[in-house]
Amino acid sequence: MDTLKTCYENETVEGLQFYLEHTNEHSAILQCVQDVLTGEFQRFKKRVQHCSLSNYTKFTIPFTWHIMKSEDYMKQVQAKGNMKKFDFIHMIQMIYYVDNLTNTIKFYHSLLKDNGRLMIIVEMSNSGWTTLWNTYKEELVDNVKDYNSEMVTASLKSLGLKYEEHVITNSFDITECFNPSSQTGKRVLNFLTERENFYESFTPDIRADMLDLLRNKCSIEKDGKIVFNSNLSCLLVHA
Ligand SMILES: C[S@@+](CC[C@H](N)C(=O)[O-])C[C@H]1O[C@@H](n2cnc3c(N)ncnc32)[C@H](O)[C@@H]1O
Repeated sequence: MDTLKTCYENETVEGLQFYLEHTNEHSAILQCVQDVLTGEFQRFKKRVQHCSLSNYTKFTIPFTWHIMKSEDYMKQVQAKGNMKKFDFIHMIQMIYYVDNLTNTIKFYHSLLKDNGRLMIIVEMSNSGWTTLWNTYKEELVDNVKDYNSEMVTASLKSLGLKYEEHVITNSFDITECFNPSSQTGKRVLNFLTERENFYESFTPDIRADMLDLLRNKCSIEKDGKIVFNSNLSCLLVHA
């Protein structure tokens, strides 16, 4: 990935792993996919039921990893003029890294087969992440874009695309962030602000204001814990 920062660099990898281990994000996403795509799963099961065992292999799904930036795939398709079409395309927590939101959605939508679906999972516009990153745009927004569900739906509307929105409830216990001697707290603050060292990256005033915002605007207090709102939006775009 040339110019844009990806989430898979240095300490951010550890931060992401820590976050995934301490939230239900992946199981909540999986549950949402199962709920939202029930019709698609049922259609697939029906096709499999009607096929004899000897024919079964024709229903196995071929799977190949093509590791490349979304922008490179776009260039490759445009250069070859080879528009392979898909039943399902997903963008789970990755839209923040694309160069141009509307062009990306328009392009991948154009690759859908009839009745295909494009699934975009992104931070909710009222989540703690959006509140934090919108409030501290100047200090935080670097190479990663601060896209959220409202911006994605604005793009979908501007393209005239039909979509459904489903909320994925998710939360993150950030209580340790408010204990200055906690290593876990420091790690979580580094991850939330995408900095290598939260305590060295901002002035004391900004740090204090950020902690106040994290506690009072991005989270709720429950059973003595500070619980960060990490809700996601699942946008299911129709072909
Ligand atoms: C925050 S991670 C999410 C990973 C995983 N989907 C999940 O939900 O845990 C962001 C993902 O976006 C990918 N990514 C970053 N920039 C990208 C780009 N320009 N094109 C395609 N994928 C990109 C990263 O490689 C990474 O897999």
